[in-house]
Amino acid sequence: MGGAILSGLRQSPGASSGIRVTTATASSASHLVGAGVEARSHEEDPGANEWAVQDADIVIVGVKPHYLLEVIREVSSAAPESAVMVSIAAGITIAQIEDAWPGAVIRTMPNTPSQVGKGVTGMSAGARATSDQVAMVARVFDTVGSVLQVDEGSINALSTFSGSGPAFVYFFIERFIEVAQDHGFSAEEASTMVQGAFAGAMELLEASGKTPQELRESVTSPGGTTQAALEVYAEADLSAIIRRASAAAIARAEEMAQG
Ligand SMILES: NC(=O)c1ccc[n+]([C@@H]2O[C@H](COP(=O)([O-])OP(=O)(O)OC[C@H]3O[C@@H](n4cnc5c(N)ncnc54)[C@H](OP(=O)(O)O)[C@@H]3O)[C@@H](O)[C@H]2O)c1
Repeated sequence: MGGAILSGLRQSPGASSGIRVTTATASSASHLVGAGVEARSHEEDPGANEWAVQDADIVIVGVKPHYLLEVIREVSSAAPESAVMVSIAAGITIAQIEDAWPGAVIRTMPNTPSQVGKGVTGMSAGARATSDQVAMVARVFDTVGSVLQVDEGSINALSTFSGSGPAFVYFFIERFIEVAQDHGFSAEEASTMVQGAFAGAMELLEASGKTPQELRESVTSPGGTTQAALEVYAEADLSAIIRRASAAAIARAEEMAQG
C-alpha cells in the first residue's frame, strides 16, 4: 500500500521530492529509489528507519498492522517533535499509536487505486494534531485521489467500502469472467466483456452526472432481459450479503485493535 501511495505521488508534479523511504529488504528499496526519492532497507542498514524520520514533517508507516507499534516505537526518539505520525494500518487505533508516539497522530485508510491517482483515503486526526498538520497530510493524500475526513469511529466502516473495496470489485469481476467462460467464451473474450463493462460503466457514471440508479434504469427495460437477471440478484438479497461481509470486516478490524 505504501508503494501505491509513492507511485501516485511520483506521478503528481512536484509532490515527490524530499521523500525518504525504507523497506525490509534491499531488493524492494532498489526499486523505489530515484526522482526525488531516497530509499534504504532495514536489511542493509538497521538504522534506516531512524535515518528516514530525521528532519521529517510527516512520517507515514506502511508496515503490516501487527508490526506497526513496534516500528513506531523504534523511530519515536529519532524524529523531530513536530513530525506528524500517519498510520495506514487497518484496525490499530489512534490511542494505541499515541501511546507509542509522543507527537501528533493521524490515522488514515487509503486504497490501492492511489497508485493511479484514483485513491480514496479516509482520515481521522488525533487530539494532538493541529489543523495545519491535518491540512498538510490531507494535501499529500489529495495528490493520489480523494480524501474524506471522518470520525475515528467510522474508519473501520469506511475501510470495508473504499479500503477493501477494490478487492470486492476484482472478486466480482473474477466471478463474472468465470461464468462468461461457462457460456463458451475464451478467457480473453470473457475479460474483454466483463472488464469492459465495469470500466465503461464507471466512466459513464463519472461523465454523465447521473446517479447509478438512473443509469441502471436506463439499461433495464420493463419485462426485459436485464430485469430478469436483476430479479435473481434481488431474490438472493445482495444487500444482506454486502451487510454481512461489511460486518465481518469491521469485526476483524476490532479484533486486530485488541492485538
Ligand atoms: N493492501 C491494501 O489494499 C491496504 C489498504 C489500506 C491499508 N493497508 C494497510 O497497509 C499496510 C501495509 O499492507 P501491505 O499489504 O501494503 O503490506 P506489504 O505489502 O507487506 O508491505 C509492507 C511494507 O513494509 C516494509 N517493511 C516491513 N518491515 C519493515 C521494517 N522493519 N522497516 C521498514 N520497512 C518494513 C516491507 O518491505 P519489503 O518490501 O522489503 O518486504 C513492505 O514494503 C497494512 O498496515 C495494511 O493494513 C493496506
